[in-house]
Amino acid sequence: MIWPWIAVAVVAATAIGIWLYWALSITEGAYLGRRVVALLYDWTSARYDRVKAITWRQDGAWLIDPLVQRLSGIKDPLVLDVGTGTGRFPAALLGDGRFSGQIWALDISRGMLRHAYERVKSYNRCRLVWQDADTLPFPDGLFDAVVCLETIEFTPRPQHTIHELVRVLGPGGTLLISNRIGRARWFPGRAYHDEELSAMLSKEPLRDALIHNWNSFYDLVWANKLGRATAVGHGADDLEAWLRKPEHLNSGTAEPYGPWGEHGSHKAGAQ
Ligand SMILES: C[S@@+](CC[C@H](N)C(=O)[O-])C[C@H]1O[C@@H](n2cnc3c(N)ncnc32)[C@H](O)[C@@H]1O
Repeated sequence: MIWPWIAVAVVAATAIGIWLYWALSITEGAYLGRRVVALLYDWTSARYDRVKAITWRQDGAWLIDPLVQRLSGIKDPLVLDVGTGTGRFPAALLGDGRFSGQIWALDISRGMLRHAYERVKSYNRCRLVWQDADTLPFPDGLFDAVVCLETIEFTPRPQHTIHELVRVLGPGGTLLISNRIGRARWFPGRAYHDEELSAMLSKEPLRDALIHNWNSFYDLVWANKLGRATAVGHGADDLEAWLRKPEHLNSGTAEPYGPWGEHGSHKAGAQ
């Protein structure tokens, strides 16, 4: 009898199809490792801005205004955006006349960085790096603010990622991250109830954590690192010279992305 075998084959094919849909479409490779995530974002980078444009309309009110206010006491703040994608956050912050500092933005997808580069290149106050969020190529306590939007659910160990974000944040510095709430049940271990998230944050040297709704897919989390912020940030430093120092670019895999500095120097591997 061939019919039972056909039935088994149909059930197996359906199960595989559903799994692939979950693994590649709904969770965008989040459980298949960094390389798959990077590959999927490389492939979809050209469409990303079109798809996301609707949720970006209110970035000024939700993200930029509150951050600029928090940084207002610091001259030339230095900001890090982890998982910058197509440069949505740096472009919005640099486009705000009140922000005088500099931004480092990193991502594991070169396709996304290519679009980010087009968006921020005219400012000359933003540097892009191709690098994984879990090994940030920066020393402890460097940044006045560290931002990571819509990205933590893609990293294999979110608690470790948060630890790394907080490590590079300076005393009193501002942390801004997002927590997935839409389709959260499809992201086991990567999307958190408020209590779980608060418990994760409490493991880090943070104070004044505030969790509030952002949109139907994400909550926002604001917090400050323990300690007192300095009045002058690192945002006026010569970033290219700084990055070239081996003790600063301390991860062997990190690559500057795009032309660097007035001399337009490229590093091998940058596109
Ligand atoms: C949904 S997009 C968000 C992009 C941007 N933050 C925004 O709000 O538009 C997620 C981004 O995280 C990046 N990403 C995923 N895993 C990463 C990792 N481990 N390290 C660095 N970037 C990562 C992806 O390449 C992608 O660009």
